[in-house]
Amino acid sequence: MTTDTTDATDTVDATSPRNAPFAASRRERAQSLSGRVESRRFGTAVGPVRHVAEDRDRLAAMRWEHFDVKQLGATIGAELHGVDLSGDLDDDTIAEIRAALCAYKVIFFCDQFLTTEQHVAFARRFGELEVHPFIPANDEFPELVHLAKGPEMAGYENGWHSDVSWRIVPSMGAVLRAVEVPASGGDTLFADMCAAYDGLDDEMKERIADMYAIHDYMFVFGRFVPEDKREETRAQFPPARHPVVRTHPETGRKILYVNRGFVDYIEGFEREESDALLQALASQAELPEYQCRFHWEPGSIAFWDNRAVQHYAASDYFPNRRVMERASIIGDRPI
Ligand code: SIN
Repeated sequence: MTTDTTDATDTVDATSPRNAPFAASRRERAQSLSGRVESRRFGTAVGPVRHVAEDRDRLAAMRWEHFDVKQLGATIGAELHGVDLSGDLDDDTIAEIRAALCAYKVIFFCDQFLTTEQHVAFARRFGELEVHPFIPANDEFPELVHLAKGPEMAGYENGWHSDVSWRIVPSMGAVLRAVEVPASGGDTLFADMCAAYDGLDDEMKERIADMYAIHDYMFVFGRFVPEDKREETRAQFPPARHPVVRTHPETGRKILYVNRGFVDYIEGFEREESDALLQALASQAELPEYQCRFHWEPGSIAFWDNRAVQHYAASDYFPNRRVMERASIIGDRPI
């Protein structure tokens, strides 16, 4: 494996005649290592992920009127402080929260002890809510998915995905509220799929530019559909054909829009080739440089832009209890 010596250049006194030739050669080497360095053994790369810098700096320069922001990842995730979600927020505040959602791609709120009504009311300010056909709902509010895990119900999270990408019109975003959190563990990780797209090389970008993937609920939710309901459910939710690269309807950013949870295959390829390409693309979500990780406390809320991120719930707390409720806002058909 080669080592990036970029930073070491600074430690050499190039003004000293004794060091001059050495400094020059170091500088040249550093310049030639402008990208990441491939490890031949594992096919991975080490060194700075430079393309995130522009977005990171753009986000750091943003100023907000209705709340304070603490950024979490380089290009993804921010805690919003100084806003009370239980109240009747004015339209300007809602518009600014929406702008922050589009910018940071996932936003977090702490110490918000919302009732279920307040949770639903807050999510509704961003659009109509969907009802999930497979996951159990809150007893009173069908538009709240109830995710209860514990000794009697082991988690099946552990997978990077974008919610309901098997719908023809997947959700725009989701507001997830902690109802009961384990003493440790149970974090949720988020990956910036705009940064993931930007990080692909030009050849791959060109290759996938006009590709479509077929998304299907069957892999994850098929087992919850009773035999006698299979045909009806299939007719209601046929496989959804979405572009592999979608364009964000509000920011105009390109997004790598494939996930291993729900994509069946990439159109136009034999199964093996499609699987290999899907693996290469979907695994971009696993790069820590594109991620942020959120630790839940009582009163925590996460609101993610489901068009721009994938998420992964860490199922490391079994048999302890973790109960969450999610309101999902209906989005646009990906283009
Ligand atoms: C989800 O996948 O929507 C739930 C995420 C979580 O429980 O952290």
